[in-house]
Amino acid sequence: MKNVTCYGTGVIGTAWGATFLKGNCNVTFYDIDTEKLDDTKTNLEEILSFFCTYGMMTAEAKEKALKSVTYTTDVKTAVEHAELIQENCPEKIELKQSVLKLIEAHCPKDTIIASSTSGLLLSDISKNAVHPERVICAHPYNPVYVMPLVEISTNEQTDAQVVEKAVAFYKGIGKEPVVLKKESPGFLCNRIQVAVIREAYDLVHRGVCSVEDIDKAVTYGVGLRWAILGPHLVNHLGGGAAGFRGINAHLAGAMKTWLEDMAKWSDIPEGYIDVAEEGIKEEMANRPKGTGNNEQELGAYLNQGVLEILKYHKLI
Ligand SMILES: NC(=O)c1ccc[n+]([C@@H]2O[C@H](COP(=O)([O-])OP(=O)(O)OC[C@H]3O[C@@H](n4cnc5c(N)ncnc54)[C@H](O)[C@@H]3O)[C@@H](O)[C@H]2O)c1
Repeated sequence: MKNVTCYGTGVIGTAWGATFLKGNCNVTFYDIDTEKLDDTKTNLEEILSFFCTYGMMTAEAKEKALKSVTYTTDVKTAVEHAELIQENCPEKIELKQSVLKLIEAHCPKDTIIASSTSGLLLSDISKNAVHPERVICAHPYNPVYVMPLVEISTNEQTDAQVVEKAVAFYKGIGKEPVVLKKESPGFLCNRIQVAVIREAYDLVHRGVCSVEDIDKAVTYGVGLRWAILGPHLVNHLGGGAAGFRGINAHLAGAMKTWLEDMAKWSDIPEGYIDVAEEGIKEEMANRPKGTGNNEQELGAYLNQGVLEILKYHKLI
């Protein structure tokens, strides 16, 4: 697949577009709002410059890519020749459904339509679709042009060949797709993230540690290993000769006690945001110079670090 449309060009649509261009696709950007399309032009240039800075794209390729892009506010022009449409509209189910209806009215019947939704169910998004067999969710991680993961969600109506083609496409542009075996609100990563952050916030809220210390515990402890190997492989190694079965047998009693003591809330505790904001200010001020003492520096430091890890994984 070469002809790709980014439908909705905010943060995610623009970043997808840059990623598709790096993957040598012909990219069309569609947005309902002309001002957003103007922003996209500026933001796209910045992302392609980022690729050049980190040796992921040549200056010539950047210029060629920028000249090849189509911007439109006309739905038909946007989708009539598209082989894959990446939908990046706001996270509202009624809007996603109406957008899908409009797209289907103008695109070929075998065009793959992939929603970037952060966790809405495919069955809800494609409830009224004429051809639900070619609609999938393909959830990226922010920033899309740095993070490799794409969570692909399907349902019993999805055509297996569509999934195969989508997986090959995302792999072909340098992504790491995973296909869920069944629908799951929030997919995989947002659920893991929310489980971990609930416990992290709760430990601060209970007065066990500061915001800075819980962030250190994740950055210099559990997160560091998980960036290289996932929790199953890390635990398998942790079990030594006894492997995964061994470590789980060893930890079973303690794990039960910890799990029973852990946070169970589903709303952030009252007053916690104020506490966390104070802690974040303090943590940011305490960081060693050159590792990010304001939001802009922190963002750059984070992206640079992720790229180093991706080099280690041989993904760039
Ligand atoms: N921001 C993230 O971290 C993130 C990460 C992964 C997935 N997502 C998902 O990606 C999608 C887009 O999120 P975002 O952060 O880019 O939002 P955004 O608000 O930055 O962009 C949404 C864009 O959609 C456009 N739009 C609104 N209604 C439209 C319509 N009817 N037709 C066409 N365009 C329309 C808006 O003008 C805007 O440019 C959401 O489903 C979100 O859950 C977001």
